[in-house]
Amino acid sequence: MTSVLYIPTDAAALAVGADEVAAAFQAEISRRGLDVQIVRTGSRGLFWLEPMIEINQDGGRIAYGPVEPDDVAGLLDAGLMLGGDHRLRLGPPDEIPYLKAQTRLTFARCGLVDPISVADYRAHGGYVGLDRALAMDATAIVDEVKLSGLRGRGGAGFPTGIKWNTVRLAVDNQKYIVCNADEGDSGTFADRMLMEGDPLSLVEGMTIAALAVGATKGFIYIRSEYPHAFAAMNRAILAATEAGYLGPSVAGSGHAFTIEARLGAGAYICGEETSLLESLEGRRGLVRAKPPLPALKGLFGKPTVVNNVMSLATVPWIMANGAQAYADFGMGRSRGTLPIQLAGNIKQGGLIETAFGLTLRQVLDQFGGGTATGRPIRAVQVGGPLGAYFPDRLFDTPMDYEAFAAVKGLIGHGGIVVFDDTVDLAHQARFAFEFCAQESCGKCTPCRIGATRGVETMDKVLSGVERAKNLELIDDLCQLMTEASLCAMGGLTPVPVLSAITHFPDDFNRAPLLAAAE
Ligand SMILES: Cc1cc2nc3c(=O)[nH]c(=O)nc-3n(C[C@H](O)[C@H](O)[C@H](O)COP(=O)(O)O)c2cc1C
Ligand code: SF4
Repeated sequence: MTSVLYIPTDAAALAVGADEVAAAFQAEISRRGLDVQIVRTGSRGLFWLEPMIEINQDGGRIAYGPVEPDDVAGLLDAGLMLGGDHRLRLGPPDEIPYLKAQTRLTFARCGLVDPISVADYRAHGGYVGLDRALAMDATAIVDEVKLSGLRGRGGAGFPTGIKWNTVRLAVDNQKYIVCNADEGDSGTFADRMLMEGDPLSLVEGMTIAALAVGATKGFIYIRSEYPHAFAAMNRAILAATEAGYLGPSVAGSGHAFTIEARLGAGAYICGEETSLLESLEGRRGLVRAKPPLPALKGLFGKPTVVNNVMSLATVPWIMANGAQAYADFGMGRSRGTLPIQLAGNIKQGGLIETAFGLTLRQVLDQFGGGTATGRPIRAVQVGGPLGAYFPDRLFDTPMDYEAFAAVKGLIGHGGIVVFDDTVDLAHQARFAFEFCAQESCGKCTPCRIGATRGVETMDKVLSGVERAKNLELIDDLCQLMTEASLCAMGGLTPVPVLSAITHFPDDFNRAPLLAAAE
């Protein structure tokens, strides 16, 4: 019987040599005349163990990692094909504590399947959700998504079913599904991992969305820094088309739906949905005023669903297992699971999909295993560059949209960036203004001018010039940006600034100062 060896092709695994490991295995397998098939998969998201390989055995899979090309001959000598003992042997992947403690729904297939094989996708539960959706009418599909409690994973946490219903009710001859795969937040990679590891789940989710609202065309807007995800999505779209799941009659249903992947041009603001639509239409990524909502006047002025990768890729699970099964996970109004991305100065960075409700401390201790530098954790920023900096005394906050809002933070896209005790939060606050000044689309004054004034004023604070007065000015500026900015770019920049000032006041009273400013 042919043995199967799984080696990731995820960008994070490639960055640490997965291709070289695959080449070394291929050469050694040929040299030894072994009957082994190599299948390239996505990543399981345990980045400190990459490249993590798996061998298929009678009793399931056995993982080894992190593997280097020089380990290959030794692994084969140790009986890798039979799950033999070796210093890199990790055992059954599902038993690795980091994975065992998770609830993988959206990421259930990631790292497990051949990303572009429709047959493998089906063999692991793929297209069950679409089959069910095809037997339902549009209202029933929307109701199912509403009932699941699914909220947008792109940042704002808006209920997905309600958005779909607005598009469903809009009367027009053309509607669109647009997937936001711009993933610009610091420390985030879940969208990328999913597109590289299980792209067909996104294709299926978009197809179900199309049935629900009556759309015939979909676009995936992928950031240009993600060439592997772009290639994987294109291969998956082709595979789904060849299998009859995309095209003039989806799975023979008579519903037409096609998808095109488009590359963005590397601007953070192009992740904001209206700016993304401008960019898709071939213009500069300038934010549009709302109303009208994209749901009513979106791409090319037509009713459009704009959803994040994970929002859409979670829909097949909901349709296959039922809304209630999804809603049974989570806490309060945050239902289901959240794919958390743990990054920054942390020993065990990676993807952690878990029901809402786990505390920040549990994420850091149970999964992270401390900082990579071995020094104490001093601060974590949750929710990307517009998210708050949390001190230790807030680490018991549960991962829940409302609980985070109550402490003036946000969950955003689920990214957590960890800092040790060498971090200077005054410089991080300055960086928040600087980031906004660089990435602002320039359409509204509070953000375009405010962010630059913020950098200048923060420089005065760092230099010790009339600190109290300038901090008061920053507070005033933050209030103005919060209330008067046209979009959340300018509107949320005060969040990291004010959280740094509130939770880490000592950092704003130090000398020496400006010379170290970024
Ligand atoms: C400055 C800015 C950047 C954003 N970047 C992203 C992004 O990279 N990906 C994303 O899905 N949503 C991003 N959003 C949120 C989108 O505007 C929008 O809310 C989201 O795509 C809706 O999808 P969802 O309901 O599935 O979350 C961003 C918003 C702002 C203000
Ligand atoms: S807040 Fe900033 S990014 Fe948003 S519209 Fe105004 S200038 Fe553009």
